[in-house]
This record gives sequence, structure tokens and C-alpha cells, in this order.
Amino acid sequence: MALTGLGNSDLKLIIFGGKGGVGKTSCAVATALALSENFKTLLISTDPAHSVSDCLGQQIGYKVVQIDGVFNLAAIEVIADEALSVFKEAHQSELKKLLATSTNLDNEDINEMLSLSIPGIDEIMSFKTIIDFIEEGQYDKYVVDTAPTGHALRLISSPKMLDAWIKVAAKMRWKYRYLITSFAGSYKQDEVDAFLLSLKKTVKRIENLLQDNAKCEFIPVCIPEAMAISETIRLIADLEDFKIKARQIIVNHVNVSEDCVFCKRRKAGQAKYIQQINEIYSELNRVEIPEFAEEIQGLEPLKNLRKYLFEN
Ligand SMILES: Nc1ncnc2c1ncn2[C@@H]1O[C@H](COP(=O)(O)OP(=O)(O)OP(=O)(O)O)[C@@H](O)[C@H]1O
Ligand SMILES: [Mg+2]
Repeated sequence: MALTGLGNSDLKLIIFGGKGGVGKTSCAVATALALSENFKTLLISTDPAHSVSDCLGQQIGYKVVQIDGVFNLAAIEVIADEALSVFKEAHQSELKKLLATSTNLDNEDINEMLSLSIPGIDEIMSFKTIIDFIEEGQYDKYVVDTAPTGHALRLISSPKMLDAWIKVAAKMRWKYRYLITSFAGSYKQDEVDAFLLSLKKTVKRIENLLQDNAKCEFIPVCIPEAMAISETIRLIADLEDFKIKARQIIVNHVNVSEDCVFCKRRKAGQAKYIQQINEIYSELNRVEIPEFAEEIQGLEPLKNLRKYLFEN
């Protein structure tokens, strides 16, 4: 089978995730290439390992670049650490004021506290960058490559984590507001309240998009091996906990050749895992990709992979 439904006009965001080394980047890049034939497409790498650059053989960075030789395809790296630095820089004063007004911390403690991370904030800021792009609407499709499983899940769970943090911050503020009201008789909302509200709105925007199956699709990539299957089972279950339903799955590195004893043994060894995947995920569209003789680097091998992803 081939990947289906990615051309639906409502579908904006397509995220690839899975265990380390199973082919997420290759599949994300090949999918973006395929989509760019009919849609203006932005390929977004959230993996600090810069693998999209390696895969395409073209340097991608924190600014959108057009991909050489591909008409409608652009790419950007959105790395959580960098997104977090930009966020901290922009909101240093609100964060400081939040701590200064809601805790007994002195200046030194506050600075120390600010150097620590807020749970989920780095991932949420990279997601915010992505959602800002989507809302700007310059592209029809946004294809996201993630780092191995834990990272995709951190990305997905970041709204919940940040939401919990906002709740605590709001509670601390509530005490402050109560004190001010008791002394001054009234309380006027300040920049910290506005900041918490805007964070809350960001969380909601991201949750709404992620949980909208028409607008966002998560495609797990796996290989026919025991550990990869266990990790995929956990990934898909965790996605469901976040109300994200996988519709299709890519099974990569499938051995098809029987030309030599080694190939035959590899193929036989994989058979039971492929059967297992077919049984567990009988309701998903399963897309099998063969093991190629060469690695997938550069446009020509990517076009070959794309053929298997979209034309079988
Ligand atoms: N079907 C395939 N046949 C042969 N080589 C493949 C196939 N799919 C991927 N590869 C190669 O396997 C390596 C890992 O692939 P890729 O980088 O896409 O995986 P990944 O899941 O993104 O890895 P990471 O978890 O490190 O981000 C690359 O060298 C790629 O060219
Ligand atoms: Mg990768």
C-alpha cells in the first residue's frame, strides 16, 4: 500500500516519528518532495542532529531556505534549545516579575531559577514556531521530522506539561493578586497576567491543532524488529492518550531479496515481525518500504523512496 490522504486540502501538518534510525528523516524528506509537486511545502526539522541537511545534501538552518532543484519546497530547522533562548530573551522581564511578585526569592535565586528550564517550554516554543508558520499560511503543507521517539512524545506532551506549569504560576499570582486587592482595594492586570494568558492561548492553539485529525497527521515509522515494534506500540498508545490517532504506519527496511543465503535469512527473520505488525495494526494503512542497497542521500535516492511511499 501507499501513503494515502496527504493531499487532502484540510491536512496541513504531517509529523513523522519513531525509534532511532528507522528512517523518519528519509520518509519525511521524501514525503515533502512528493507533496511539493502539488503543494507549496515547508519541511521542518526539529532534530538537532541536522539530518535533513545531510539527507538532502543542502545546508538547512534556522531561516527558511528554498531547496535547490525542487520548485515548491522550502525547509527550516526549528530546534527547541534555540526557540527557548529566543523565548527567554523576549520574556525575561515577565518571568522575573512573576517570580519576584509570587515568591520570596531574592534576585540571585530568581536568576538561578530563570536559568532552569520550565517543563515543556523548549518543545512548546519550537511547536509555537511551527504553528505560527501554519497560521501565517504561506505554505499548503508542513512536514515535520522529529528526533527519536522520546522527542516526538516530548513534543506532543509539551502542551500538557506547560499547562500544568501555567496552573501553578496562575495560583501563585492569585495569592499576589489577593494581597494587592486587600491592601489597595483593587487589582489591575499587568504584563505578567497578559504573559500567562498568552502562554495559555499558545497551549490551546497547539492542542487544538494536534487533536484535529483532519488538520494534523502523525505517521509512525518502524522496522520489522522486536524492539522497534515494542517502541511503536508504546508510541501509538501514547499518541492515543493525547487524542492523536495514527491512520497509517510505515514499515521500513523490509528485506525482499532472496538472492543470497544472508538475504533469505534476513527475509525469513523479518517475516514474523511483519505478520505481527499486520495483526496488531490491521486497521492502519501499512506502507512497506524495501531495504535498499544504498543509503538514501540526495534527490535521486529520495525520489526512489518516494515512489515506494506513494505509488505502490
Ligand atoms: N529503506 C532503506 N534502505 C536503505 N537505507 C535506508 C532506508 N531507509 C533509511 N535508510 C538509511 O538509514 C539511515 C537512517 O535513516 P534516517 O536518517 O532516515 O533515520 P531516522 O529514523 O531519521 O534516524 P534518527 O533517529 O537518527 O533521526 C540513513 O543512512 C538512511 O539513508
Ligand atoms: Mg532523523
